[in-house]
Amino acid sequence: MTEALIVAIDGPSGVGKSTAARLLAARLRVPYLETGAMYRALGLEALERGVDPDDAGAIAELLERLDLDAAFTDDGEILVLLDGRDVRPLIRGPEVASATSRVSVHPAVRHFMVDLQRRWAGRRGAVVEGRDIGTRVFPETPFKFFFEAAPEVRAARRFQQLREAGTQAVTLPEVERQVRERDVRDSTRAESPLRRDASYVVIDTGLAGPQEVVERMLRAIDERRPAPGRR
Ligand code: DC
Repeated sequence: MTEALIVAIDGPSGVGKSTAARLLAARLRVPYLETGAMYRALGLEALERGVDPDDAGAIAELLERLDLDAAFTDDGEILVLLDGRDVRPLIRGPEVASATSRVSVHPAVRHFMVDLQRRWAGRRGAVVEGRDIGTRVFPETPFKFFFEAAPEVRAARRFQQLREAGTQAVTLPEVERQVRERDVRDSTRAESPLRRDASYVVIDTGLAGPQEVVERMLRAIDERRPAPGRR
């Protein structure tokens, strides 16, 4: 098995994983992989090609033609490229979010993404953020974190992000409804649902800012590192 440092961060949407993961990766000097962007790229592809996100067979066919690649950027991010395109500006909207949540339930999609994630992150180590990183993608890593916060707190954060991105046409109750809907789908699907076990360090991000969260993670990582000379 590789000696690369893998840190897994799992949790529901809007809980602050991306901000903390990016900061942590910089402190540890390893790349940062946002696996949600990979699923979102597939959601976007389904929308652009008019493929029904709920149709497992059609999505499996789409996967066979999917051109998903990784680029290691200078600022430490593993950039997700769809057909060679940086799709970051196209994958944040509510339409893509909904399609993504639906394509993510198919076992063929999970296998495809997990395989890529192991290859991309395993190469140099990484802070990897998603829903099933510590349970499915890298279950053997000793460094697993699960972020939690109340749905209202996460909805308020998402609402603020959308406002900052210039989206006016959405209300806070609507965002909260979407957050709760995605929570249910992400945690009740048969394949790799969002769940945690005793191997995770649980962090309530409703009570701590990103810097404090990162300091707590660094301390936990130090405590879990194997002592030198011992395997
Ligand atoms: O983290 P995010 O909000 O960008 O995730 C978008 C969707 O992708 C969300 O509905 C859950 C899904 N997802 C997943 O099923 N597994 C992951 N490892 C990451 C995201």
